[in-house]
Amino acid sequence: MVKLTGLKKIKTAVFISGTGSNLKNLIKFSKIKNSPMSIDLIFSNTSKAKGLRFSNQFNIKKYISSFKDPKITEAKILNLLNREAIKFICLAGFMKILSKNFIKKFNGKIINIHPSLLPKYKGLDTHKKAIQNKDEVAGCTVHYVTAKLDSGKVILQKEVKISKKDNPTSLAKKVLRQEHKLYPAAIKKIFN
Ligand code: GAR
Repeated sequence: MVKLTGLKKIKTAVFISGTGSNLKNLIKFSKIKNSPMSIDLIFSNTSKAKGLRFSNQFNIKKYISSFKDPKITEAKILNLLNREAIKFICLAGFMKILSKNFIKKFNGKIINIHPSLLPKYKGLDTHKKAIQNKDEVAGCTVHYVTAKLDSGKVILQKEVKISKKDNPTSLAKKVLRQEHKLYPAAIKKIFN
């Protein structure tokens, strides 16, 4: 959907709400010579997001604004993305829902990582649901973001076996390890 032109890395913003392990992983990926992207902005809807520390650590601009008034926040973000010439957005543990209008402005240029094998288990508590349903496999998905929650076209998925001993916490850890491989692989798939 988005092709890289020339040798310039595509300027990317990562949106987070929490720990930011996927953000850190994407930053490391972006620094590899042949990586198609650079990460130039971190956005969080909360100042409590632990992942914001990577802004200082890697010298990347950050912007924080609560979604109390989503319209105003989104307008501010769009302004900033424009100013910073951001062309691509990766959602990484971002727990707010972007409006149709926002998504339209970045049509085909927003991707998300979700901790389930979509279309199974959209929304929250994916690991709890998988265990409760006695699923044998869980997993993660990188997909395009559309106005319908967790429903855009799948880019890549990875299965993770659920063992009898797993609880939602242990499963989340196993899936997260795979997320860290899957997100860069999905980005490579888009741009190469
Ligand atoms: C990840 O498991 C990600 O897939 C999930 O939140 C976690 C964030 O971890 N995202 C969602 O649930 C989005 N609906 P991280 O902050 O360590 O990257």
